[in-house]
Amino acid sequence: MEVLRVKVWRGAEQGAFQSFEVPRQASQTVLDVITHIQRHLDASLAYRFACRVGMCGSCAMTVNGVARWTCRTHVDTVVKDGALEVAPLGQLPVIRDLVTDMAPFFDKWARARGRFRGTRSRHDEFARIAPQDADRRQADAGIECIGCGVCYASCDLVAWNPDYLGPAALNRAWTLVCDARDGAQAERLSAVGGDAGCHACHTQMGCSERCPKKISPTAGIAGLKRALARAVLKGAL
Ligand code: FES
Repeated sequence: MEVLRVKVWRGAEQGAFQSFEVPRQASQTVLDVITHIQRHLDASLAYRFACRVGMCGSCAMTVNGVARWTCRTHVDTVVKDGALEVAPLGQLPVIRDLVTDMAPFFDKWARARGRFRGTRSRHDEFARIAPQDADRRQADAGIECIGCGVCYASCDLVAWNPDYLGPAALNRAWTLVCDARDGAQAERLSAVGGDAGCHACHTQMGCSERCPKKISPTAGIAGLKRALARAVLKGAL
């Protein structure tokens, strides 16, 4: 039986890799490998997943040095010389083993005013925004984010400036800036315009390259820069 040599991070910020041997199987994902270890070799291994089909965003880890969603990453595409190294997602505190604390990541969504604020009541008519509306199409391009944190872990700017809001929070803000129904636009643009906001992005595009949903946060961040410039020129900020 063919065997995969797997090193898995154990511990918290301080820890070490532990080695396991896992049977290779056809169409095996990295999450399948980690699940095999937890169910058959060491039940104390901590990791996180939910949907297993690329929807919930909870299974992201660092696989052979690269941030990935593990439930949709086939071993065949990432294995090197019959070996895998699996570590927690980077640039976030490690709680235990492969589980990171996502609070700093989602706190930045809140700082970027990533929450829809409607302006209508239940008594008003529904807002009608045509599918071909230009703003709606820009929002649609970024709306499928699953909050996995892969872009955040892949961003050099987050590494250099831990206060930087990061690609996911800024992408979320951009989808709302493009939403004509939202009533918090000036507040949101102010929130994403500081030193730790969209102007900190150096367009290195690590986020866009790595996003498993093929979203381009870089494009959204460029849109925020344009929207901010327009708002300042109009005297709206
Ligand atoms: S387990 Fe839900 S995205 Fe991977």
